[in-house]
Amino acid sequence: EKAPVTVAVTGGAGQICYSLLFRIASGALLGPDTPVRLRILEITPALGAAQGVAMELDDCAFPLLRGIDISDDAATAFDGANVALLVGSRPRTKGMERGDLLSANGAIFTGQGRALAEAAADDLRVLVVGNPANTNCLIAMNNAAGVPAERFSAMTRLDHNRAVAQLAQKAGAQVSDVSRLTIWGNHSATQYPDISHAVVDGRPAVDVVDRPWVESDFIPTVQKRGAAIIEARGSSSAASAANAAIDHVRTWLTGTPQDSWTSMAVVSDGSYGVPEGLVSSFPVTTRDGEWEIVQGLDVDEFSRARIDATVAELADERDAVQGMGLLG
Ligand code: NAI
Repeated sequence: EKAPVTVAVTGGAGQICYSLLFRIASGALLGPDTPVRLRILEITPALGAAQGVAMELDDCAFPLLRGIDISDDAATAFDGANVALLVGSRPRTKGMERGDLLSANGAIFTGQGRALAEAAADDLRVLVVGNPANTNCLIAMNNAAGVPAERFSAMTRLDHNRAVAQLAQKAGAQVSDVSRLTIWGNHSATQYPDISHAVVDGRPAVDVVDRPWVESDFIPTVQKRGAAIIEARGSSSAASAANAAIDHVRTWLTGTPQDSWTSMAVVSDGSYGVPEGLVSSFPVTTRDGEWEIVQGLDVDEFSRARIDATVAELADERDAVQGMGLLG
């Protein structure tokens, strides 16, 4: 039997984890042959609720699940972690300014970055889901001394999956027939879902769907999908976010299909004019736990303006947290 993999998850008592933890324990994250140990981090007042989730995990009798530990101390929760899913964060509450949000999360992600560096396993891979995901990831990455920056990522896979589904529906195709779609920039309403290189059933997407639909329907629908789910469901997209987290890590560890790519927010090397060091979503290929930004794609004027706008927002957020001294 394979050695168990340790997966640390924060925000274990929250909505996303109520779906995510069960998927991980069932084998959806690491495959059907890999036993898993769960280590859950929660804030002290939510420890009881996290215990309740652990009781339900027990009650599933998952054959692959080799233990559940719960803690309110980050270094304890991250001990030996091979994969860390940072889901918990401080949500924006009424009357909260953006600066308040960034500083409240700064306190969380500086501490978690340090704790990962101190306690996690050498092969650590980190996915930040908690919003503002790109900037929380930037903070954790900059505070995790000794952990390579390439081990950190933030989630735009939900946006990617949403875009794939919208395009497939419009084209009358299957989602499995859509490839080479890209989410650029920030996981926020400024993100740019880009179909200019996408392929649908062997044909360029731009020949399959019309430009007005892309500009006035597709792009805003993907950008505002989170708000539309809240409006319809009365609470935020939790199951689809959990599913995207599974997809993100699984793709990172097992690889993208030949001739296609995924979208992941990773540290920029300056590709496509995105300033070095920002955590931005890019078209990315993966293999055996390593990622690479797809190079050499043409960026037309329309795409350039949209990439620049979302990247400007990321640079603003970085400047704000740098000004607060959160980048070490
Ligand atoms: P939730 O509010 O139901 O759960 C969050 C949990 O995190 C709570 O149980 C809370 O106690 C915990 N938490 C807060 N601070 C913590 C800390 N310092 N350490 C450990 N745990 C802590 O929220 P939900 O629905 O589970 O969403 C979680 C986050 O994911 C939110 O920030 C949300 O905006 C974000 N999100 C991101 C998406 C993406 O595509 N990147 C998609 C959907 C949600």
